[in-house]
Amino acid sequence: MKSRWDESVAQTLNGDLLKLRVYSSRLLGQESDLVLHGGGNTSVKATVKNFFGDDEAVLYVKGSGWDLSTIAAPGFAPVRLEVLQRLAALEQLTDSEMVTQQRAAMLDPNAPNPSVEAILHAIIPYAFVDHTHADAVVTLTNTPTGAEQIGQVYGDSVLLIPYVMPGFILARKIRALTQGIDWSQYKGMVLMNHGIFTFADDAHTAYETMIELVSLAEASLAQHNAVSFATAAPQADWLTLAKIRQQVSRVKGAPMLAQLDQRPEAVGFSNLPNVAAIATRGPITPDHVIRTKAIPVVVDRDPEAAVNAFAENYRQYFERHTDGQLTQLDAAPRWAVWPGYGTLSFDRSIKATAIITDIIEHTRRAIQIGEALGGWQALGEKDLFEMEYWELEQAKLGKAKAASEFQGKIALVTGAASGIGKACAETLHQQGTAVVGFDVNPDVAEILNKPGLVGVQGDVTDEAAVKGAIAAAIQHFGGLDIVVSNAGIFPLGQTLENLDADIWEKSLAINLTSQRALLRHAIPFLRHGIDPTILFIASRNVLAPGPGAAAYSVAKAGLTQLARIAALELAPEIRVNVLHPDCVYDTGIWTPAVLAGRAERYGISVDDYKSRNLLKQPVSSREVAQLVCTMASRVFAKTTGAQVPIDGGSDRVI
Ligand code: NAI
Repeated sequence: MKSRWDESVAQTLNGDLLKLRVYSSRLLGQESDLVLHGGGNTSVKATVKNFFGDDEAVLYVKGSGWDLSTIAAPGFAPVRLEVLQRLAALEQLTDSEMVTQQRAAMLDPNAPNPSVEAILHAIIPYAFVDHTHADAVVTLTNTPTGAEQIGQVYGDSVLLIPYVMPGFILARKIRALTQGIDWSQYKGMVLMNHGIFTFADDAHTAYETMIELVSLAEASLAQHNAVSFATAAPQADWLTLAKIRQQVSRVKGAPMLAQLDQRPEAVGFSNLPNVAAIATRGPITPDHVIRTKAIPVVVDRDPEAAVNAFAENYRQYFERHTDGQLTQLDAAPRWAVWPGYGTLSFDRSIKATAIITDIIEHTRRAIQIGEALGGWQALGEKDLFEMEYWELEQAKLGKAKAASEFQGKIALVTGAASGIGKACAETLHQQGTAVVGFDVNPDVAEILNKPGLVGVQGDVTDEAAVKGAIAAAIQHFGGLDIVVSNAGIFPLGQTLENLDADIWEKSLAINLTSQRALLRHAIPFLRHGIDPTILFIASRNVLAPGPGAAAYSVAKAGLTQLARIAALELAPEIRVNVLHPDCVYDTGIWTPAVLAGRAERYGISVDDYKSRNLLKQPVSSREVAQLVCTMASRVFAKTTGAQVPIDGGSDRVI
């Protein structure tokens, strides 16, 4: 591991302790082999003037919810050092008492909750304390001869602490073990199955010592580099993936995304003959359990059976360890080994799923190196359970806002680069849905380009392209729950005696015939979706056709009939409904020329034409999208085969 310290940057901080603390914390945070997503913590002891101008010794310690890679000064909670040191000397302190006392001892009540390791940082007699979960160090300890391995790498230069639960118990234990020792003879402290601390009176030394100690562990592991790479990733069976994700969601009781990792290391790991045995021995460090659960599901048989067996084992694990007071968490796995194909991560948002993918990337590597070192051996089940059901860790997750029902859902929207389709894709995405937007417009990938919102280019009349867009939804997000069939064209108005064959054919091809392939390829995946639904964007023209619009109205009428048949065929599994918009002028169909032409045909002004409905108001594409969301939601759970107008009211329809 290379040092990222840049003395020219450090010089600009003019010796300001908190600024230096921020600087070196971020350097640690940039190294994913040291800390991942909120893992690790750092502190600095400083003397500050309180409100009355008196000097006070404080510990600035990483606040809960902050990530070392992005931490800023407000991310450090200033806590009175003396209070923390007195807490360390207590015989007993519950987690909630610890949180209360730490908060009460903060100089700034608006600062975040101090890290649960604050008391431990306070008793280390150096200004700068750095703590990481360095993969290399923890991997050495996660083996049958972990303590010996650490001894071989570091000799007597580090303190070795057996595993105990992080928080007050760990601080108290370290306080007891270090009474009367000469700290200056140690470069750092290794916590079995947990991580490493380094310390110094200046930021640079504490940081460089971390890099030095971790590099020694990495060098020792380099002799055992046994990580398996696959040269090629096999084409995954998308239907099986959708089934896995459906069953995980069912066990969770809410829609989950599934992210397939098919990078060479992931496939290589999944190909190992003993993968089922080694993958299920436990995580690198216990704090990963909060996100990943202790072990993955191995999908080496029927997905439903594999996920159900995982859930049953999880319930038994809970029963083995609960004290009778705890409430069981959901029994759904958070990651899977899919033998031959790679690994999978499950969570309700793109962000949380990606965090699990990152953690698993490190876990796969550590497990294989641990095996080569004599056998991967994670912390015991009881300790992992205590971490998973730790009141404080649970509280961290509990702070998340109640999720929207669209969180974890997956949608395909056709014609998503413009107008109503774009509004549908964006609105569904804002609600939490992962969306693939399909459009013939070559710019669609740039137009829809956010985490969880992907543009795929193609023509709805090209069956292979439609199949590819559906596969993209499974490949990116793990399944398909919502299809919004919106792509459409509004051909040039022509009376029947002038109607060109190519205009007629094109309208039918795009507005109607393309729906066959879409349905044919989407239905098998929707059958393995969560509360699956199809929404067709037809038109007010179906119920109130206009002269000169035969090619359009006939196609949309055919589409409506198709939707009614789909509702009959697909019940009770899949709901199918139709929207009939009109007067949606903020879209590509309604160019100024089209509007002017229409107004002229009716002999009225453009403004009058725009307000020709009963409510005298145009409809926005956003309003159509909101109705689409409502019809995709539980509000419409008991409705299928319906046709809902959104047209400002039409006397011809009423
Ligand atoms: P728009 O022109 O803004 O959006 C249509 C989108 O579909 C465009 O991004 C276009 O590139 C895409 N598209 C066209 N042909 C395609 C193909 N062959 N393959 C893939 N993508 C294709 O128009 P707007 O108004 O948003 O239309 C969306 C749907 O709403 C259409 O089905 C239209 O018939 C329907 N509609 C619109 C009304 C309105 O007042 N704007 C009223 C009634 C229905």
